[in-house]
Amino acid sequence: MSLLEGKTILVTGVANRWSIASGIARQLHAHGARLILTYQGERVEDSVRKTAAELGGGPVFPCDVTNDDSLDALAAAVGRIDGIVHSIAFVKKEDLSGKVYDTSRDGFAMAMDISSYSLIALVGHLKDNLNDGGSIMALTYLGGTQIVPNYNVAGIAKAALEAIVRYLAFDLGDRGIRVNAISAGPISTASSRQVAGFSAMPAKVAAAAPLKRTISADDVGNCAVYLASDLSSQVTADVHFVDAGYHAMGMYPEAPKA
Ligand SMILES: NC(=O)c1ccc[n+]([C@@H]2O[C@H](COP(=O)([O-])OP(=O)(O)OC[C@H]3O[C@@H](n4cnc5c(N)ncnc54)[C@H](O)[C@@H]3O)[C@@H](O)[C@H]2O)c1
Repeated sequence: MSLLEGKTILVTGVANRWSIASGIARQLHAHGARLILTYQGERVEDSVRKTAAELGGGPVFPCDVTNDDSLDALAAAVGRIDGIVHSIAFVKKEDLSGKVYDTSRDGFAMAMDISSYSLIALVGHLKDNLNDGGSIMALTYLGGTQIVPNYNVAGIAKAALEAIVRYLAFDLGDRGIRVNAISAGPISTASSRQVAGFSAMPAKVAAAAPLKRTISADDVGNCAVYLASDLSSQVTADVHFVDAGYHAMGMYPEAPKA
């Protein structure tokens, strides 16, 4: 029997085939989940509908996490679900380089609203759709606990997101609903490429990480399968790293001599 047979998982954050959410959706589908996908804005609707058609033909709904009416409509439409994947972030490009002390009030508020508060909003609206024993997961990054130059306010938002994961895990624990984060290594996507100097990051990780390789969206998807499945039924309030072990390094090996 497939690990996720009989489970319906709502996956947010598919923008195109390179999105981490697409890799997650591919693996959830491969392990038997029924998918519900959401999209933000008409610009990506066709791409998300195409992904849904390729992955079992499940329903597709609009969802803008900054808009409570949109979240109300989503809750009214989705029916019963066994899991939620939060794969959403946004930071103004000008706040993904330079000094954190130059971050504007407006840029900070927008980053926190879309990248952090959105998990509270999504879970708050969908908690009655979730079956007891369900699983919620959110995508985070090492820059939430360590200094990653240029990640800046995105890292501050990830720190808040990881704290939200823990508090929601407590809120929902009495229903057997688990809330975890997956901390992915750098993967080239529309969002990550906004971070100044991003293009060099995957190779730096591959050079320094114990497993000496880069990470793919489908690698993250494999972790999502475990977290969505009953195999992780006693795992909550945690951050799982899918980064080839990079986060555990305290000193990096010397670069090989040219
Ligand atoms: N790519 C990486 O290296 C990396 C590493 C670790 C964590 N992450 C995290 O993974 C998640 C997905 O990012 P990605 O790299 O796949 O990029 P992406 O650009 O493919 O996905 C970001 C998604 O956020 C959605 N979004 C933005 N504003 C929204 C709103 N108001 N309402 C609803 N959705 C909204 C976009 O539509 C898009 O689908 C993010 O949380 C990101 O921080 C990415």
